[in-house]
Amino acid sequence: MVTAGRTVFSVQKYNVSFGDNEIAIAVERFGSPLWLYDFEIIEKRVWDLRSFGIIRYAQKAAPNINLLSRMKDLGVDVDAVSAGEIVRALRAGFAPSQIRYTADIFDRDALALVKEHSIPVNIGSPDMLFQLNETGIKVPLAIRVNPGFGHGHSHKVNTGGELSKHGIWHEELVEIAGKAAELGFNVECLHMHIGSGSDYIHLSQVVSAMEQAVGSTIAVIPDLKIISIGGGLPVSYSRDKPAKRMDLERYYDIWDSARKRLHSHVGNYLQLEVEPGRYLMAESCVLATEIRAVKKMGKNLFYLIDAGFTDLVRPALYGAYHHISIIHRNGNATGEEANVMVAGPLCESGDVFTQEEGGVVVSRRLPLAQVGDLLVIHDAGAYGSAMSSNYNSRLLAPEVLLEKGNFIQIRKRQTFEQMLSNECET
Ligand SMILES: Cc1ncc(COP(=O)(O)O)c(C=O)c1O
Repeated sequence: MVTAGRTVFSVQKYNVSFGDNEIAIAVERFGSPLWLYDFEIIEKRVWDLRSFGIIRYAQKAAPNINLLSRMKDLGVDVDAVSAGEIVRALRAGFAPSQIRYTADIFDRDALALVKEHSIPVNIGSPDMLFQLNETGIKVPLAIRVNPGFGHGHSHKVNTGGELSKHGIWHEELVEIAGKAAELGFNVECLHMHIGSGSDYIHLSQVVSAMEQAVGSTIAVIPDLKIISIGGGLPVSYSRDKPAKRMDLERYYDIWDSARKRLHSHVGNYLQLEVEPGRYLMAESCVLATEIRAVKKMGKNLFYLIDAGFTDLVRPALYGAYHHISIIHRNGNATGEEANVMVAGPLCESGDVFTQEEGGVVVSRRLPLAQVGDLLVIHDAGAYGSAMSSNYNSRLLAPEVLLEKGNFIQIRKRQTFEQMLSNECET
């Protein structure tokens, strides 16, 4: 929409297919705060990636077993980064061969589960190879390569280079791959999770690094079958301008060309694997909260809501932006707006949803609202509920899935008894 002298973009409120009404009904039924997912969005995002030979869901983004089982039914494989994630994947019905354990260490529980169920492993440290060998089982292996450089939306998520703990250092790759082969492992996959998404200059660097990794290891792992390009596909959290979706076709073509070049070099048919978390989940979920206090601090206006960084930590951890909207519950919409800061209930000054990287608190233009109105935090499906905690002895919020018009509770609200259940009364 263009008005005299300036361009005004109509702000799209929801990415999910439900709206204010459904959220208000869900809060009425399940209470606040509440995670509300839309399975239709997840299905669409899986469909977007259908060109890739293997879609492996990085479940760390949202590991509820009900989401996992539905993704399995869509033909998606799964990544597990801990013993707990292996247990979740098995509980959701994945066959062990559809799971891959990716980590830089084996804790003892993870090693025991890998051994018990013969779960394929993506090794991120040489010690993992030797510990796996000691178990006597020979599972299919991937090797996670650290190509010597990284990328990420924050220093806290940088995935490669000398300051990263992830993967086998590229200069040691041939030696470790050779050792794995010598020990009788079938190394079927080389993996690189660098997260370049739509940064094409960086992406070309990652593609060359992958080509180099495959080229250098042909002699020692001739049975390579898969190149896994990791996750890191971005989504647009901002609503300031019309959402610019990543050009997936271009992304796929770049990798597919590399795959074809490698195919003629290696001689084996190579499958392309993508391992997204955020891309599949972020837009599928909102965090619905209730405004419990509205107060002025000097010239600043605060909405204090009943969810904190114990629910959604991304703003406090990375200064991550999430779109926010208001649902007026008592017919009290005035049409007026104000600059508002949105904060949570925790006894922590960093418990603010409107902050930038480095903890700088900023305001957001939002409708004037009252206590009792709902405040909706959007695009909260990836690293949202998954990163919740019991800090300040706050209870984990319930998760609800809207599927074919029905609300399905997929996680109950935690109770105080459950929170205390492992504490020994001495
Ligand atoms: C090994 C690995 N694969 C995939 C992912 C998923 O990344 P994203 O959610 O950015 O797609 C991660 C995220 O940390 C990861 O560590």
